[in-house]
Amino acid sequence: MKQINYLVIVFIGATLLCNCSAGKKTTSPAASIPSLKDVFKNDFAIGTALNTAQIEGKDPKAAALVEQQFNMATPENIMKAEVIHPEWNRYNFEPGDQLVSYGEKNKIRINAHTLIWHSQLPAFARQIQSADSFRLFFQQHISTVAGHYRGKVFSWDVVNEALNEDGTMRKSVFLNKLGEGFVTEAFRMAAAASPGTELYYNDYNNEQPAKRAGCIRLIKMIQAAGVRIDGVGIQGHWHAGKVPLQDIEQSIIEYSALGLKVMFTELDLEVLPRDFQGADVSQQMKNSPAMNPYPNALPDSVQQLLARDYSSLFKLFLKYRENVTRVTFWGVNDGQSWLNGWPVPGRTNYPLLFDREFKPKPAFYSVIATKQASAN
Ligand code: G3I
Repeated sequence: MKQINYLVIVFIGATLLCNCSAGKKTTSPAASIPSLKDVFKNDFAIGTALNTAQIEGKDPKAAALVEQQFNMATPENIMKAEVIHPEWNRYNFEPGDQLVSYGEKNKIRINAHTLIWHSQLPAFARQIQSADSFRLFFQQHISTVAGHYRGKVFSWDVVNEALNEDGTMRKSVFLNKLGEGFVTEAFRMAAAASPGTELYYNDYNNEQPAKRAGCIRLIKMIQAAGVRIDGVGIQGHWHAGKVPLQDIEQSIIEYSALGLKVMFTELDLEVLPRDFQGADVSQQMKNSPAMNPYPNALPDSVQQLLARDYSSLFKLFLKYRENVTRVTFWGVNDGQSWLNGWPVPGRTNYPLLFDREFKPKPAFYSVIATKQASAN
C-alpha cells in the first residue's frame, strides 16, 4: 500500500511538473521535462561529470541535456595528473581549457578534479625514486595546474581518496614519500596558487563511521595548521536498496560542525550485484551472466527501487540545504557511466537519472516530486 501511494505521488508530481514546463522553449531532446538546476536553484547546485568526448563537443545529445539540466560540471578524467601532466616538464591544458570555455559559455561552473590522487598518476611520477624529487613533482604539479586555472574554475578537489576504510591513511606513494603532512601541504599550495577557488577533500565511503572519523582527523589537522579547506566531498557511489541514509545524515551534521560545506560529488546508485562497497578502482570481479542480470532493460521493480532511493536521498539533501552546496551525478546518462566497466567489464548498468537515450527515468521524476512535496 505504502509503495502504491509513493508511486502515485511520483506520477502526479511528474505530470504536474511536465505540464508546468511544457511551454519552455529549448532545443533539448527532452524539451518538455523540468530542469534539475531550476527546480533546486534555491537549494544547491546540480552537477554532472563530463567525459572526454563531451568536453571535446563530440556528443551533441549530451550537450543539449547538460545545458538544460546542470549548472556545475566535473571533468571525469581530463584534469587527472596522467592526462594533464604527462611528462615532467609537459602539461596538457587543452582539454581543461576547452571545458572552462564550455562552462563560461553555458553558465556551468567547473569543479576541477583532482590535484592529488594516488590513481591515474603519470608513469614518470610513479618511477620517481627519491623523496626530494617526488616532493618537487608534487609542488610543481599543484602550483602549475592550480595556477593555470586560477580564477577560471570554481573549486578544486585538492586531495582525493587519501584514506583507508578504517580511517587510517592509505599507503599511497604520497604517504610513502612525503608522510601524512602531504594533505595539509597540498591545501596550503593550492590556496597559494589559486586563492579565489574553493578547496575540498573528496573521498568515497567517508560517510561510514570509521572512515568519517579519519576524514575529520585530516580536516582538523589542516585547520590546526591554519590552512584553508572549504568543503568535504562525499562521493556517493552507493547501491540501490542499501543507501546508508543515517550515516549520510550524521556525516552532514559532523562535517558541517567543522565549518565546512558538504557536497555529494560523484553520485550514482548501482543496481547490479557486487560483493563490496565503495569505489576503489583496483578492485575487480569476474563477469558471468549472473553478474549482468539486465542486459536489455531494467525491470520495473528495480526502476522503482532506484526511484525510491533517489527520492530519500534528495529528501535528506533538502533537509540540510543550508549545509549541502552541490549534488553532482557521476555521468550524464546510464550508457556513459563508469559502472558499465567496473568492477566487472562489459555490464549494462543503470545508476543515473537519464537512460541511454537521454530520457528521464522514474528516478528523475521521483527527485523532482520530492522537491515539490517539500515545497508544499
Ligand atoms: O586513457 C585511456 C585511453 O588512452 C584508452 O584508449 C582507453 C581504452 O579503454 O582507456 C583510457 O583510460 C581509461 C580512463 O578512464 C579514460 O577513459 C581507463 O582505462 C579507465 O580506468 C578510466 O576510468 C576512470 C576511473 O576513474 C579511473 O580511476 C573513470 O572513467 C572515472 O569515472 C573514474 O572516476 C573516479 C573518480 O575520479 C574518483 N572517485 C572514483 C571514481 C570512480 O572510479
